Order: sequence, then structure tokens, then C-alpha cells
Amino acid sequence: MLPQASRAAAILTLGRWFSARSRVLPWRSEPTLYRVWISEIMLQQTQVVTVLPYFERFMQRFPTVEALASASEAEVVEAWAGLGYYSRARNLHRGARQIVASGFPRTREGWIEIPGVGPYTAGAITSIALGHAEPILDGNVERVLARVLALSRADGDARFKARLWKWSGLLVRRAARLEVSPSRFNQALMELGALVCTFRNPKCAECPVRYVCAAARLEATERFPGKKPAKEWVRVEEIRHAWIARDDSGREVILMRRQAPGEWRAGLWDLVPEAPAIGKAALLGEIATRHVVTRHKIERTTKIWSVSEMSAPPRPQKIGEEFAWTPLDQPGLAGSASFQKTWKSLREFRIGSPR
Ligand code: ADE
Ligand code: SF4
Repeated sequence: MLPQASRAAAILTLGRWFSARSRVLPWRSEPTLYRVWISEIMLQQTQVVTVLPYFERFMQRFPTVEALASASEAEVVEAWAGLGYYSRARNLHRGARQIVASGFPRTREGWIEIPGVGPYTAGAITSIALGHAEPILDGNVERVLARVLALSRADGDARFKARLWKWSGLLVRRAARLEVSPSRFNQALMELGALVCTFRNPKCAECPVRYVCAAARLEATERFPGKKPAKEWVRVEEIRHAWIARDDSGREVILMRRQAPGEWRAGLWDLVPEAPAIGKAALLGEIATRHVVTRHKIERTTKIWSVSEMSAPPRPQKIGEEFAWTPLDQPGLAGSASFQKTWKSLREFRIGSPR
């Protein structure tokens, strides 16, 4: 164990490092509850650089929680298009309605009641926007704390996480007593993990907490936090059909379907699961795409059809299901991640084949 004095010095150094070196980010310069909430939800599965333009656009479109609550779910999903993990957008919309009805929560426990907000996000929101000394633990913070304290997942993931949560709380409260605010301290941990204490090749030589870091002292940063338990993958096989036709002006168009409420990827657009009627279509080829969303490994086969007429899409079978013809070179509809992947391959297929 380290002497208390050097740990206090490290907290102060980290606080100063954050003030001097942290990135200027729009939710940092104006940390209202609304802005911090939106930013934390966007940052859940997505990197800062990707989030930035979405955040600015989202704020212009929905400047207040009231504006967000009075929008339709489809409008919110549309503003989210491209960020992925769309349950986040649907949860934001539901959360906004809850907040308009009962006010912004003022505690960690209150925030956990908001859809899509877990222990990490609740801690981040209340520490950054309200200055409460609440713990946080995401992948970045986990890595920093595990290295500083030389704690490894090797003796059990649940135990490892429980210990880190405890440390995160102890440290943020200690920091507050040293007048490093919870907002500054927690964001400093996130920032250190993102910029210095990276997964591969951490920059220990320029790290503000290297003097108290056990992993650096042992020259064994790669041992901490240790490997995650293997994921249990769920394989999903899908078949989709790309109906391609020409509109009146000779432009190539493709048939899209909007997923109905209650379906996976509800509200988003994708290719249709139905093949066109035989006799009205010619099979041009087939493409295979794969990608990963959370625990799902999605393997998709897309059959590509040239159809003679645009006028006869399948009839909607479910409430909220919708069909639309859209330009193949610019679909302009909020597509699921699976669709985006398929569409890219489809473009290559069309470009590579004679017309
Ligand atoms: N990742 C999660 N929350 C963040 C924040 N407030 N700033 C930077 N990166 C983050
Ligand atoms: Fe991470 Fe190295 Fe800093 Fe330790 S000294 S916290 S391992 S960057």
C-alpha cells in the first residue's frame, strides 16, 4: 500500500493535468443535466470523435428536454441514424417524457430510474452536472484503476468489478476533500484512460499518476486489467432481398422496409425479407455480409433482383410497417447498421457489374 500522502499528491496532480490537458468538448463547456445526459448516452458505445457532430446536430434539433419529449420516436431515431445501438435513442425519448412529467432527477438513484441509464451513466451525470461525489466505472476507468492498483480480473470478474467500484467511490470522495471536484476528478480518470493509459502501449512516461502506479512500477501494464471472460456469441442468419428497379427518370431505385414497433431495430429502414414474384424479376446475384452488434454475430445473405416495375411492393402485414422506393445511390433513410453494411457491398456489386 502507498502512503496516504503520495496518493493525495497524485489526485492533485491528476486534477491539474485534466485542467491543463483535457479536450475541449461541448458537454464540458456547458455541463447542464440535459447536455450531460445526452452526451453520456451517446458516448456509451461510441467514441468521442464520432459523437461530436451528432451531439451538435442533436442539440440544434432538440435544444431542450421539452423539445425532445414532444418529438415523435421516429424523429429521434432519425436524428440518431448512423450512431447505432438505436435502443439508446428510444430510451432517450422515453426518458425525456419521464423527465418532463417529473423533473430532472437530482440523485444517482433517481437517474437509474431513467431508461438506458445504468450505474456508470448515473454516476457520470450526477458527478459532472451536479458535482456529487459519485463513483463511475466504464472501460477506460476500469483500465486506469486496475493498473494503478494492480488489480486483475484473473480472480473473478464480479469480484474485480466490485473492488473497482469501491475504489472509484473512495477516490472521488477523497478528491472532493482535496478540492478536486467530482466532475473534474471523474472526467480526469476517463480522459487519462482515453489519451494516456490506453489499452495498448500506455504512455507511462508522460502519465501524471505514474509515481503511484503499481503496474508501471512492476513494468507489467499488459497484465492489468487482464482478459475479459469470453463472450457468449449468438449467431444470427438473415436473408434479405434487394429489389432494384428504375423510376420514371431512369434512376435506379431500391425497395426499403421500415421495421415495425416491437421488431428488432424498430423504426429503422432495411431491405425487405420477401423475394419478388417470380416472372417479374431477374436474379442478378447474391452477396454475403457479416457484422457484430453486442452479442450477435449477424451473417446476412442478400439476393439482388432486377424487378420490372416499381409499383407492387409487398403489402404491409404489421402495424407500423412501411415500404418505400428510394434512390439506390443515396437511400436517405435511417438505416440499421446491418443495412448500411449490406448497402456498401451492394454498391460495390453494382459498380463492378455491367448494367
Ligand atoms: N466517455 C464517457 N463520458 C465521457 C466524457 N464525459 N468525456 C469524455 N469521454 C467520455
Ligand atoms: Fe496507466 Fe502507465 Fe499511467 Fe499507470 S503509469 S496509469 S499504466 S499510463
